[in-house]
Amino acid sequence: MKPSSLTTKIFLDSGDPAETKQALSILGFLDGQTTNPSLIAKNPQTAGKKFSKQELLDFYKGIVGQVSVLIPQGSVSVEVYADASTKAEEMLVQGREFNKWIPNAHIKYPTTSEGLKAAEISVKEGMRVNMTLVFSQEQAAAVYAATKGAKKGQVFLSPFIGRLDDRGENGMDLISNIIKMYKAGDGHVEVLTASVRSVEHQVRAIEVGTDIITSPLRVLKEWKEEISNDKFQISNEIKNPNLKPIQYQEIGLDKPWQEYNLAHELTDKGLERFAADWNGLIG
Ligand code: G3P
Repeated sequence: MKPSSLTTKIFLDSGDPAETKQALSILGFLDGQTTNPSLIAKNPQTAGKKFSKQELLDFYKGIVGQVSVLIPQGSVSVEVYADASTKAEEMLVQGREFNKWIPNAHIKYPTTSEGLKAAEISVKEGMRVNMTLVFSQEQAAAVYAATKGAKKGQVFLSPFIGRLDDRGENGMDLISNIIKMYKAGDGHVEVLTASVRSVEHQVRAIEVGTDIITSPLRVLKEWKEEISNDKFQISNEIKNPNLKPIQYQEIGLDKPWQEYNLAHELTDKGLERFAADWNGLIG
């Protein structure tokens, strides 16, 4: 069902198994799904509801369990709870637990110093990880360095392009820049384009060579129409004059990960938003 010329893995970005079913029926295939606390908060079953911490974890486990059964050959990303004060050890405890929920998990850790410490250990333990809230090339280089030795497919890197666009920077440039930087490496980190807002993002990310893209159901639906018209290879370069280009930086991949600059305002804000959405369900 998947066009043979399409080598990019196509994921759904959703916390709702009903959408997984719809995506499967619309596209005829799905290579994976990404979830996060905000997407769980958008699941219609959480509307107007409050959970205890344990009930919420059980709910999340139930959701990813259903998704996992629908796409057993795919990858399902499950995100740890983390706020600015969460230590690597606390993330690891969650990651190890979530990894037992389903056989096809990628554990999402934030691309912060504590998240990278947790990821480094997780990878050594054989877990699969998806480093989230990536907004800079330096962060991508740090992820590469922290996970060296991982097998192909074990590490995903999720740059959030829409949130860069939202503040006037061309998020797609970050994808191209990271792909270019990773060309000097061994290919153990797969670039997963996230925070996708439009079918133009979808088409362009595939064109620039992202390994994976995760998109909301709405975008997958529109994109399916493009595939049906055999248009998915047509260039849709985003030349929005309102978006400031993000320049490529010459960054080597061979430093210890702790020496890269991990700071980014949007990573901090993203952590806050995920934590707030999760905590908003607890009462
Ligand atoms: O995959 C990440 C995504 O869920 C974040 O998207 O639209 O909140 O920036 P958005």
